[in-house]
Formats: sequence, C-alpha cells, structure tokens
Amino acid sequence: MKHILLITGAGKGIGRAIALEFAKAAKYNPDFEPVLVLSSRTRNDLDALARECPAEGAETDIITADPSKIDEVRQLADHIINRYGTIDCLVNNAGVGRFKPLEELTEEDFDATMNTNLKGTFFLTQMLFASMQKRRSGHIFFITSVAAEKAFETSSIYSMSKFGQRGLVEALRLHARKCNVRITDVMPGAVVTPMWGEVSDEMQAVMMRPEDIATPIVQAYFQPARTTVEEIVLRPTAGDL
Ligand SMILES: NC(=O)c1ccc[n+]([C@@H]2O[C@H](COP(=O)([O-])OP(=O)(O)OC[C@H]3O[C@@H](n4cnc5c(N)ncnc54)[C@H](OP(=O)(O)O)[C@@H]3O)[C@@H](O)[C@H]2O)c1
Repeated sequence: MKHILLITGAGKGIGRAIALEFAKAAKYNPDFEPVLVLSSRTRNDLDALARECPAEGAETDIITADPSKIDEVRQLADHIINRYGTIDCLVNNAGVGRFKPLEELTEEDFDATMNTNLKGTFFLTQMLFASMQKRRSGHIFFITSVAAEKAFETSSIYSMSKFGQRGLVEALRLHARKCNVRITDVMPGAVVTPMWGEVSDEMQAVMMRPEDIATPIVQAYFQPARTTVEEIVLRPTAGDL
C-alpha cells in the first residue's frame, strides 16, 4: 500500500537519516510502498538523497521550500494535497539552532529561529492536519529536543522555540486523539549533524548519530494503528552535553 510521507529538513542530519530509514523499511515490508516527499531549501542535498532512496525501495518526490516563509509552506502543503490527495505521515523536522551567549543573540537570530521552528511548523501542521482529520488517519512526528523541557545556557532563543513547539504538540494531541491521528514528540539530546558546526573529536565520541534517532521513529510509525508512541526521549549515554 502506498504511504505518502513528508519529511521537512530532509537534506541533512536527522531528516536525511529518517528518509533513508523509511526507504530501508520498504525493502523488508512488501505492504509498505513509501512515497517520500523530501523538502528543504537546498536542491542539491535533496537530489543526492533521492539518488540513494530508490535503491532502498522507495519512490521520492523533491520539493524545495523554506519553512520560515509562509507562501512556501502553503505551496508545500498544496503540492501534497493536489498531487496525492492525502498525507499519511508528516515529519516536522526542519529547524534552526543558533547557540550563543544571551548578549550576542540578534534580532535576525530570533526571527530566523521563530519563523522556522514555530511559525513554519505551526502552519504546515495546520494545513496538513485538516486532511488527516477528515480521513481519521495519519501520524505527525515533531522533532523537538531535550531543550524543549530543559534550558541550556547558550540556547535561550532555541529553547524558547522548542518549548513553544512542545506547547503545540500538547495542544494538538488533545485534538488529534479525538480524530484518530497519532502524534509523536521526539526529543533528542546531542546528535552529530551540521547544526553543530565544528565539533571536537572528544565530543563527537559521545554524541548520538542521526540514525540513532531515525530508527525508533520508523518503529513508532509501524506500531499498530491502535497504539501511539507519544514521546521518544533519546540522550547520549553520557548525558546532556
Ligand atoms: N542535532 C542535534 O543535536 C539535535 C538535537 C535535538 C533536536 N534537534 C532538532 O532536529 C531537527 C533537525 O536538526 P539537525 O541537527 O538534523 O539539523 P541540520 O543538520 O542543520 O539540518 C537541518 C535541516 O533543516 C533544513 N532547513 C530548512 N529550513 C531551514 C532554515 N530556515 N534554517 C536552517 N535549516 C533549515 C536544512 O536544509 P536547508 O538548509 O537546505 O534548508 C536541513 O536539511 C531540528 O529541528 C533540531 O532542532 C537536533
């Protein structure tokens, strides 16, 4: 059976690993025919990912969009509904992290973070949830963070946005339960991805890898429809960095 899945921020890091893990699942599950709609701002990243995915057994569809721009969010949602008529799974993964001491953070840092992590996530979810609600079926993953419930000294704006995402998750969950839509909040600790920029070998040695996050997400998707994995919290074994 065809499953339409949209993954935002699919070009790099955790989003890329989630796409590859769903593609791999198709290889071992003949009933699962994923159409992976891969979105981010950088076309080259998506082209490279799409070349890897079909080898694993999935169909891919690329759409570039900046989640911080409402027009592009609307185009992305319209593309899904016009082309497929429906959506089975939305992975709200695209996110910005600007980590600096409080006094160095700028208005541009604030706007870029809030427009992507909060505004883009909210409106894309709102636009696509309507279709799931109508069909009484669907699954939405939010890649929030351990920073959605625990503050770190250099993550004030980032934490504001992630605490905010958690507010959306909890409010939406109340609504979603009534219409048989599954909501999963994924809260990872430190994962080696481009978001971190340069990282020392010592830190890399203890950080998680993107595939460590992707595997339990795909497992949660394959739970029976009657069961929702509501939260996934993953930390480096050494704890938060
Ligand atoms: N890495 C961690 O330690 C960690 C821990 C907890 C939670 N998370 C969360 O996991 C999600 C993915 O993070 P990641 O570490 O995989 O990040 P990443 O390596 O920086 O990748 C972010 C992805 O989002 C896309 N994106 C779309 N709009 C963006 C924008 N306005 N600014 C920046 N990137 C944008 C990027 O591609 P383009 O630049 O081409 O658009 C890229 O594909 C984020 O929501 C993050 O907050 C990460």
